[in-house]
Amino acid sequence: MISLYIHIPFCVRKCLYCDFLSGFSSEYIPIYMSALYKEISAFKTDKKIKSVFIGGGTPSSVESKYISALMDILAKHFVFADNCEISMEANPCTLTEQNLDEYKKSGINRLSIGVQSFDDRLLKILGRVHDSETAKKKIAAAKKYFVNINLDLMFALPEQNLNDWQKTLETAVYFEPEHISAYSLIIEEGTPFYDKYEPIDESLDREMYYKAKEFLAQNGYKQYEISNFAKQGFECRHNLVYWQGGDYKGFGLGAASLINSHRLKNTENIREYINGTAVTEDIFLDKEDKMKEFVILGLRCTDGISKAEFKNRFDADIYVVFGEAIKKHSDLLIINGDNIRFNTKGIDLSNILFSDII
Ligand SMILES: C[S@@+](CC[C@H](N)C(=O)[O-])C[C@H]1O[C@@H](n2cnc3c(N)ncnc32)[C@H](O)[C@@H]1O
Ligand code: SF4
Repeated sequence: MISLYIHIPFCVRKCLYCDFLSGFSSEYIPIYMSALYKEISAFKTDKKIKSVFIGGGTPSSVESKYISALMDILAKHFVFADNCEISMEANPCTLTEQNLDEYKKSGINRLSIGVQSFDDRLLKILGRVHDSETAKKKIAAAKKYFVNINLDLMFALPEQNLNDWQKTLETAVYFEPEHISAYSLIIEEGTPFYDKYEPIDESLDREMYYKAKEFLAQNGYKQYEISNFAKQGFECRHNLVYWQGGDYKGFGLGAASLINSHRLKNTENIREYINGTAVTEDIFLDKEDKMKEFVILGLRCTDGISKAEFKNRFDADIYVVFGEAIKKHSDLLIINGDNIRFNTKGIDLSNILFSDII
C-alpha cells in the first residue's frame, strides 16, 4: 500500500510565526489547483491507498468546490483500501455548515483543526485570524459531521504562562476530540517572530510539555509520538506511515515523497510548479540511510523500535551498527527485551542521540 500527501499552499493570512510553504496569493488558486490535478492524474500506481492527507497551508481556505474536485480525481484515479483514512487540515474561521457537509460528502473522514490556543490574547500575538469563540463554535459544528477530529495546539508561546496553557488544554479536552497534537513553538528564522521574540525559558517549555502529557493521559489520550496524543484507536495512520518508513507520494508545491527507496522533492517555486515541473530532486536512499531513518523515526514514537525488526529489514544487528550511540546514551533509553524506546529524559533530549546516529 501507499499513502498520499497533497499540499495546498494558501491561507487566509500568514501567521507571524509560520515558515511553512504557505500564504501564496489567492490569485494563484485556480491555476495551482489545475496543475495539482494534472500532477495527480499523471501518477500511476497499482498499490492501494492506505491514507490521504490534504495539508498546507490551509486547505479549507480555498473554495470547497476545489476540494470536492480533488477528491473526485483521487477516487477515479486510485483504489482506496478499506478504512482508508482521509484527513484534511482546516482553520476554524473557514469552516461553515455548508463546507463541512461538502467535505464529508466528498469522502474526507478526518478533520484536523488548527486551534493553537483558546486564549484571545495569545491568538492575537500569533497573528491568527480566528478568536477562541469562533474556534469553539466551529469545533462544535465540525463534530456534527466528523467522528474523527484532531485539534492542533501550540505551547511555549510568548507571554504564555502555565495556567494559560492548562486552560487551553481543559477547553480542548471539553470538546472530546479523538486526537490532539501539542507542538512546542519553534521560533523560525525569517518569520516576524524571529526579530521580536526569544524562545521562552527552557524549563517552562518542559513544564508545559509535562503538563500536556499528564493532563491528556488523565483524560484518556495516549501519547504515541513526541507531540501526538490520541484516544484508543485514533492514532493518525498517515503520520504512522511516515514514522514507520512506509511509502508515500506527495503532490503539490514542495511536497516530498518516499517511493521504492527514492526520496523525491517537488519544486518550491510556484511559477515552476504551475508551468508543469513538479519533481526537482531525487535522492536514492542506500541501506545506511534507511537504517538511520528507521531508528530516528521509530524512536519518535513512544512504542519505540524492535531489534528483531531491524534485523529482519536490514539483515544486520542494531548493536553492531549503532551500538556505540546506544551505549553512550543508555541513560535516555529504556531497553526491554526486543524493544528500545526513549524514557522521559530521552524524549526531551532526543536530538543528542539523533545527531550521534547521523
Ligand atoms: C499546516 S498547519 C495546520 C493547518 C492550518 N494551516 C492552521 O494553521 O490552522 C500545521 C500545524 O503546525 C503547527 N505549527 C506551525 N508553525 C509552527 C511553529 N513555528 N512551531 C510549532 N508548531 C508550528 C501548528 O500547530 C499548525 O496547526
Ligand atoms: S500556521 Fe497554518 S494558517 Fe498560519 S500561516 Fe502557517 S499554514 Fe497558514
